[in-house]
Formats: sequence, C-alpha cells, structure tokens
Amino acid sequence: MSAGLVIGLDLGTTGARAVLADTAGRTCAVHETSYELRTPQPGWAEQSPDAWEAAAFDAIAAVASRADRADEVRAIGLTGQMHGLTLLDRARQPLRDAILWCDLRTGPQRRELEDAIGVPALVRHTGNLPLEGFQAPKLIWVRQHEPKLLERTAHVLLPKDFIRLRLSGECLTDVSDASGTGYFDSATRRWSNEMLDALQLDPAWLPEIRESPEIAGRLTAAAAERLGLRPGIPIAAGAGDQPAGAVAAGVISEGDAAVTIGSSGVVFAAASAYGAAPDGRVQVGAHALPRRWYLMGVTQAAGLSLRWLRDTFMPGMPYDQLVSVAADSPPGSRGLLWLPYLQGERTPHLDADARGALVGLTTAHGSADIVRAVLEGVAFSLRDAAQAIQGVGASVDRFKLAGGGARSPLWRQIVADVFDAPMRVEPEGRGPAFGAAMLGAVAAGLFASVAEAVDVTSAPHQTVVPSSAGVAALEAAYERYRCLYPALADANRAAAAVQAAEAADA
Ligand code: XUL
Repeated sequence: MSAGLVIGLDLGTTGARAVLADTAGRTCAVHETSYELRTPQPGWAEQSPDAWEAAAFDAIAAVASRADRADEVRAIGLTGQMHGLTLLDRARQPLRDAILWCDLRTGPQRRELEDAIGVPALVRHTGNLPLEGFQAPKLIWVRQHEPKLLERTAHVLLPKDFIRLRLSGECLTDVSDASGTGYFDSATRRWSNEMLDALQLDPAWLPEIRESPEIAGRLTAAAAERLGLRPGIPIAAGAGDQPAGAVAAGVISEGDAAVTIGSSGVVFAAASAYGAAPDGRVQVGAHALPRRWYLMGVTQAAGLSLRWLRDTFMPGMPYDQLVSVAADSPPGSRGLLWLPYLQGERTPHLDADARGALVGLTTAHGSADIVRAVLEGVAFSLRDAAQAIQGVGASVDRFKLAGGGARSPLWRQIVADVFDAPMRVEPEGRGPAFGAAMLGAVAAGLFASVAEAVDVTSAPHQTVVPSSAGVAALEAAYERYRCLYPALADANRAAAAVQAAEAADA
C-alpha cells in the first residue's frame, strides 16, 4: 500500500460507510455499519445521533485496522446525508433525535416561510426555497411544537458535522452542506444574515464554515485511541453526499453532470459561476471546491420505485433477475408509462402531493412491460431534472452515471436513450465516501487541489452510447409522460388529502 492513506466516511441514511483509499485512487478497505431509521409518525424520519456516532466510529475503526500501520492514515474526510437537523445542548449532547432530509412534516412551515419572506427574497438570500427537508422549516417546527428544546439549544449541526464534533471536539461545517440549510447564501458562501434575522436564529448556534478541502478539526487523543489512529491527523471539512459523490465521479467543471440512481435519483451539475432559478425550483449550492457551484435536481423515488415494485409484487426477487424480466418488453413498454412520484416529487414540480401512477394499462401488458415502464419512468424524471438545470443556464454535455442503478446494463441503456447522450459509467465504489477521502487527501496536502486529486485518481470506465431505435421510441414516450403530471394533479391532490386524513385518524 502507498504511504498516503486516507479515510472517507459517509454518514448515510441507512448506515455509516467508511473507505480506506490511497492516493493512486485504490480502495483498500470498505466497512459499513447500519443504524435504524425511525418513523414515529407517517412521513416523519428520525435517527439517533448517538447511534450515528457508534456506527461511524465502528466503520472508521474497521477500515483503520486494515492499514499496515496506524500512522499511514494521514487524514479523514467527512460526508453524509444532507439537510438533517441535529440540536445539541451546552454540554454538546443531543436534545432529541435528528430530523432527517426525507422527513415531510414541515409542509406548513415551508409555506409559512414562503408567505412571510416571499419566494424572490428567499431565492435572493439563499438561491433556494426552504424545502421540507432543509433545516430552516424544521427549526420553525421545533419552535412551534417543542419550544422548550429551543430554550436549551446551544448548537445546530448537520449530520456529518455531529461526527466531526465527536472526532475533533469542534463545531464546524463546509460550504456545500451548509448550502442545504435554508439560511446559507450560496453566492457569497456565508451564512445569510437576512435569513438568520428572519428566522430569529442565534448565529452563535451555527458552526463556522470552511471550504470542503480545508482542514476543519483534528482528531483528538480520545477519538484516536478509540479508532486506532494517530492523534492530530486533519479532518477535512468535507461535503454533503451529493457534492462528495460528484468529486468521486470527477464532476467538478462546467459541462460535467452526475446522474445518480440510488433510492432517490439526482442530476448534479458543476458550474463555474453562481446562478439560481428565479422560482427556486432547482437546488443550488457551493460546490466542494473553491469558486465552483452546483445545480441539482432530485427525483424522490428512483431506485425506490423498483424496490416498491419488487417488494409489493415479486418479494425476494434479486434485482438483476427483476430487471432482466424487462428485456422482453420493447423501448416504450408498449405504451405503458410510470410516474415515479411515490413520495411526492422535488424537481421539477416541488409537490409533496404528487403521486405515482401506471398509465395506459391493458390486459395485453405483462410483468416485462411493467418493470420496463418503471425503469423508463425513472429515466424520464431524471431528464426532467436535467432540463430544469439546463433551464437555469448550465451547459451540461458530459454525463456520468453513478449509483446502484448504474450497475444494470438495461437501465444504463434506457438512461442513455432517454437523454440521447453518451453516459460514462462510474466504477463501483466511487461514491461519496471515496470523494470524502479525496477531500481528506487534499486537506493533508497529499494533493495540491481537488482537481489534481480527481485527475490523478481517475479510473477506467465504460461509456454507454444511445441507440437510435431506443432514442426514437423513448422521445415519443417522454412527450406523453410530460402530459401526465398536469393531467393527474387534481386527482392526486385529492388522493393526498384522503391519505393525510387517514393518517391523522390512525
Ligand atoms: C440531497 C438529498 C439527499 C440526501 C440523502 O439534497 O436530499 O442526497 O443528502 O442522501
């Protein structure tokens, strides 16, 4: 192994994943420790920060033990699920379970903020709307529902930064993760004083901000002992999971975009100048390297659509077998369309009341058409996200496909055909934890910049090119798909109201 080893930690939604990587870009060890996602009420999503800490230390210690010598590990880089709210008291202990990015309780608080501050001012101050998952509406919710907790609050942290606190004793964050709070000015890369005033938020609660590859804390002697690492090694500021994944995929320059199919689906474009959508319909933020920004569109149920289909109708079937069923249906799924809004939709509709649908069904359709329609519907929703990003003025012409969905040859081809663009397929293992490790390597001085880290560690990859028959069939299907959301909006709003009333009675 090379002398320059680094550890990247991804504090994900289902578990903490640590990788040990070297400066040639080789992954030497990976370890994941999972934790529980609690749903105390329908639509809520919470996790215990203490469980995060136990899993993160376990995962880091496991990969650290794979280095020949502890002092070979030169730095740690942090990434994780974005947007979550972690409230700590003066003794730096959690005041409640963290409220996560996928928690949907804050619809009313989001509307209150939009009404009180106004969309143009929100976009001017932050570049974004205060989406349900962001910290800003969650803080309002806590103020309204658990006011005693706010009286005891001394620190407000993002998920990965709680782990930094336990590793280094410091309350710090990075620009890319701060961009997803709802009170960060992505243009100037500073907390927004206007938003802090509007939210009556004490600035002393917030962590100081660093650029992603900067040092943000050093490993304390106590943490080093628990982990089997050298005390004092630098901890990179790191990044939110999407920007860190973009670093891993080399999405750092204007024209690059990552298309990631995980549980959710994300189109993430790098930009060399700041720009926001006037209506806030595209997420914007400071990228994980200085003087770069990102534009991001998210479809809520990408891999989740396929998981729902499998678990509901073909429980236990391995995913590759399930996807191979779809090979018997032609591009366009014999006229069947899937609207993947099983959890509402973020980009481009920003509508928590959007709902899923299978449209065009006849007795002639079988499971092959249904599975294929799901794969195609997810690709259509990703194209919607890409178009929303391009609408802000970003020129995207190099796509890199990542995430679990990129492992399926059929799904890759469908995405290439729907986008009518070549898709560079990222090798397995080049996810957010790897990107965080590279930010750690820059913090430790093993690379001069993030661009150099990306360049030196670039891995061999495959490229999937669009097929003319697929492009033609899927272009026609996409035109029909685009009509579905407006056509079904009233029916879905009514369905969402029924479901909300039933949940309230339960
Ligand atoms: C990004 C987002 C997710 C979470 C969890 O806006 O909500 O990527 O960070 O993965």
